[in-house]
Amino acid sequence: MSKTKTKFVCQECGSESSKWLGRCPGCGEWNTMSEEVAVKKTETRLISAPGAKPKPISMVDTSAMPRILTGVSEFDRVLGGGIVPGALVLIGGDPGIGKSTLLLQVATGIAAAQGPVLYISGEESAAQIKIRAERLGKISNNLLVFTENNLETILLEALQHKPALVIIDSIQTMYSPEVPSAPGSVGQVRECTGKLMRFSKESGIPTAIIGHVTKDGNIAGPRLLEHMVDVVLYFEGENSFAFRVLRAIKNRFGSTNESGIFSMEEHGLAEVANPSGLLLAERPQGAPGSVVLAYMEGVRPLLIEIQALVTATCFGMPRRMAAGFDYNRLILLMAVLEKRVGLMLANQDAYVNAVGGFKIAEPAADLPVALAIASSFRSMAVDARTVVMGEVGLTGEVRMISRAEARIAEAAALGFKRFVIPAGNVPGLKMVRSAGLDIIGAASVSEAMEAVFL
Ligand code: TYD
Ligand code: MG
Repeated sequence: MSKTKTKFVCQECGSESSKWLGRCPGCGEWNTMSEEVAVKKTETRLISAPGAKPKPISMVDTSAMPRILTGVSEFDRVLGGGIVPGALVLIGGDPGIGKSTLLLQVATGIAAAQGPVLYISGEESAAQIKIRAERLGKISNNLLVFTENNLETILLEALQHKPALVIIDSIQTMYSPEVPSAPGSVGQVRECTGKLMRFSKESGIPTAIIGHVTKDGNIAGPRLLEHMVDVVLYFEGENSFAFRVLRAIKNRFGSTNESGIFSMEEHGLAEVANPSGLLLAERPQGAPGSVVLAYMEGVRPLLIEIQALVTATCFGMPRRMAAGFDYNRLILLMAVLEKRVGLMLANQDAYVNAVGGFKIAEPAADLPVALAIASSFRSMAVDARTVVMGEVGLTGEVRMISRAEARIAEAAALGFKRFVIPAGNVPGLKMVRSAGLDIIGAASVSEAMEAVFL
């Protein structure tokens, strides 16, 4: 084995130092440096055959890239049409969100149609995995389960069985005997991922690894992990809601705009055909404080109800609360409503909720949130067949948003007739113009309010 020496590595960002530091010089976090024994790197990533020479790009052969369909079509879509042979895919998400369930469904899908799948678990017993697989309803002898933490042993088994896919659940429980630090430490996670990368590229066997996320939502271990792999997916959602969104953060073989929407059911994850319809199913009609937003989840328009409740503050500081929407953005929108529209909100509590457990991080949600607040404050309902979208600026102007046409088309398909959109977006609409829809361009929040409160 190679010579070892001690070093200190930040558990957040992976920065290294030869001595212990209270504050990481890389990311500025306190108490994140911990001791690790470094192993001299002898391996590098291998992506082409030894002895390969540079060649014109037009001569590069791409035909050898057939994709493996997993049978979970939302998963395939997020990957850009299935798994590419030799790809290393990282799937991150909160505990209990359904990562193991998703990959077990992918595993059973491939096992049934393509060939053996090796499911490695460092967290659960083989019996637990079997019980889950039975719950999902499909059991195939092509699905090989292996409860092991030692990566060397795992790779030997993988090379022997030559499966169509290897699944590692999770990278934080794996260890390589060459690195003396504990499983889950930066050194181990990095070393194990490096080895898996080399294995996938050399053998052409795709590997999916599950990664835990830290409390601030990043995949635990260094950011470096995300740079090493080919594809990074995040599986998100609120535990108490059925909806789960699979999103690509990085994809070397496709776009990162696709997202897959699932719901967690009694028998595993189900693909949701019409999420907008489901999201709006329980919407109260004609209630003040409820506004429908056309939201882009990647390239996919979704209709989401925004609810606001504004009530007089009893005493002291007014309370503001946002669920599924950025808190600071809410404060900003309330200041705009106060100063530019003249709503007296300073002595009002305000609560805003994006229904369905979605996290709305898109500028187009500004106007619907502002209108929901105004609607609740004035106790005036917004027409139930109106959809609102637009970014709000600090002077109270309504700014243009992307893909207005796709959003309107999705809402029109669900029976919505009136649209309050940024004035700047109106000239760009072509197709939806002729569809008999009532499209209102608003240049300011006040104009939008005039349009929705008749
Ligand atoms: P799991 O896949 O173990 O989550 P993770 O690997 O991300 O930690 O699934 C977690 C939750 O999903 C668990 O609380 C139970 C629930 N679940 C269902 O509701 N239906 C099902 O069919 C399965 C398998 C799990
Ligand atoms: Mg799990």
